Amino acid sequence: MVVAIDGPAGAGKSTVARAAARALGFTYLDSGAMYRAVGLMARRHGGAASERADELDIRLGDRVLVNGEDVTETIRSPEVSEAASKVATNPRVREALVQKQRELMSSGDWVAEGRDIGTVVAPDAEVKVFLTASPEERARRRAAELGTDVDMVLRDQTLRDAQDMEREHSPLTAAPGAVELDTSGLSVDDVVDRIVDLVEGARR
Ligand code: DC
Repeated sequence: MVVAIDGPAGAGKSTVARAAARALGFTYLDSGAMYRAVGLMARRHGGAASERADELDIRLGDRVLVNGEDVTETIRSPEVSEAASKVATNPRVREALVQKQRELMSSGDWVAEGRDIGTVVAPDAEVKVFLTASPEERARRRAAELGTDVDMVLRDQTLRDAQDMEREHSPLTAAPGAVELDTSGLSVDDVVDRIVDLVEGARR
């Protein structure tokens, strides 16, 4: 079974998807880490690196490895966030990463998290969730996570939201049939319980 969790940055996708995967005994797929890995390579080696995204050996798990190098922390920097959002507008990058994601999920049970899982990567996912939260709440969460200033995060977030939602290829949008969950004011456990209920419903 595939559980697709999409939504904007800071809606709580990573925390929720990770916890839901643990609760269900499914494997967690962080598709954003793949875009971040390509963004990092583009920063280091220039735009041509993103044209060869299909050749990158990206391993996800407790650590994120790119061609054998541990980039787990490096890919979380604001610079790489920006680079990831940029490379994510490139259709060749998207095509290469979507293919890798589909291969990974071709067997087993997955909770996959991103922007286009329910719309593009796994349109047949048995459970689709679109997580949202108010922009201020999302910025507050990100700032707490990064230990930085809320206003700065909110400014960057507004730019990145626009880039993610207005891009020509696979813009961020709720998939048909997705259950929209606003996580503002909800605990992680509340959201995970809702997702587990949806999975149980889909099994019946
Ligand atoms: O979820 P994240 O912040 O780690 O994602 C990093 C960037 O990659 C973000 O700008 C959106 C983009 N992304 C995407 O376009 N499609 C996905 N499935 C996952 C992430």
